[in-house]
Amino acid sequence: MVAYPGEPLQTLPMTRQALIIDCDPGVDDAVALMLAFGSGELDLLAITAVGGNVPVTKTARNARMLRQIAGREDVPVFMGADRPLRREPAGAGEFHGAEGLGDLTPREPDAPCAEEHAADAIIDRVMNRPGKSVAIAVLGPLTNVALALRKAPELAERLGPVAVMGGARSEGGNITASAEFNIWADPEAAAEVLATGCDVVLFGLDATHQVRATEARIAALEAIGTPMADTAASMMRFSERVERRLVGWPSLPEWGPPVHDLCPVAWLLRPDLFALKPCRIEVETQSELTRGHTAVEFRQGVAGALPHRWAVSADADGVFDLIAEACAPRG
Ligand code: RIB
Ligand code: CA
Repeated sequence: MVAYPGEPLQTLPMTRQALIIDCDPGVDDAVALMLAFGSGELDLLAITAVGGNVPVTKTARNARMLRQIAGREDVPVFMGADRPLRREPAGAGEFHGAEGLGDLTPREPDAPCAEEHAADAIIDRVMNRPGKSVAIAVLGPLTNVALALRKAPELAERLGPVAVMGGARSEGGNITASAEFNIWADPEAAAEVLATGCDVVLFGLDATHQVRATEARIAALEAIGTPMADTAASMMRFSERVERRLVGWPSLPEWGPPVHDLCPVAWLLRPDLFALKPCRIEVETQSELTRGHTAVEFRQGVAGALPHRWAVSADADGVFDLIAEACAPRG
């Protein structure tokens, strides 16, 4: 690092994790991006946008808007798949707003998308760095990652951890009785990625439902007073209204909307905040009734091998401390 006269030498942590974030912002994706943009411990190589909560033209625009709010135009944004591998596109606008960022007024950000397709950007950044050195956090349907692996199967050996928000086991589903949205939206992509031998760590609803934006946690963010903290809090306030209306709400102080997409990024920063179990995960792609169901097998005797990991618990206070630190005033 260069130190200019009078300025302290800004030393970066020695081992910043190189990371690609593939996402479909989306209000909880937005909070996860604020964590990633604000944490000094990540070497953010790329943000890749995928169609999911809203169409990819909007998720890519939203990623650029959030990047501008965070002052992180140093991180390139790439547009990816506008539809699942086989299924019809299905959004979740009722949970994220028609434009995808809740109450935030959409506008065209200053800096454009990079030219490459997201899948090519993933291949390029992983293959040009040491093996296992680049992690990817997947916060939406797995279409872009599946396309990258189809185009460059050798990625499976080169990729570091593939931390995915998706699936459900004990918690049941959130888009159908038996499936979580990211896996349900493109079950073929999820099945393909899981079958490639990548080091997939799946943060399903079993863990993400423990990471809730309670009144106290949102108020703590609102008290920070930076654009990043205000943006994260605004997303949670929107989710709070939606959850009350669409999902129902017990009057408990520890209740709040789950901020699902925080989990993979928080884990990459502080793995000690989560408990994981080795498992084999398979995805239902044949049945319409249980489309996207994640069958999570912990028994080695049944599964043969346990190539994946499943998040069984999360330290929500620790996760919210991370996002508050990331959104705090800098310097
Ligand atoms: O089921 C929750 C997931 O679906 C989150 O990633 C949310 O952003 C939506 O994409
Ligand atoms: Ca998402």
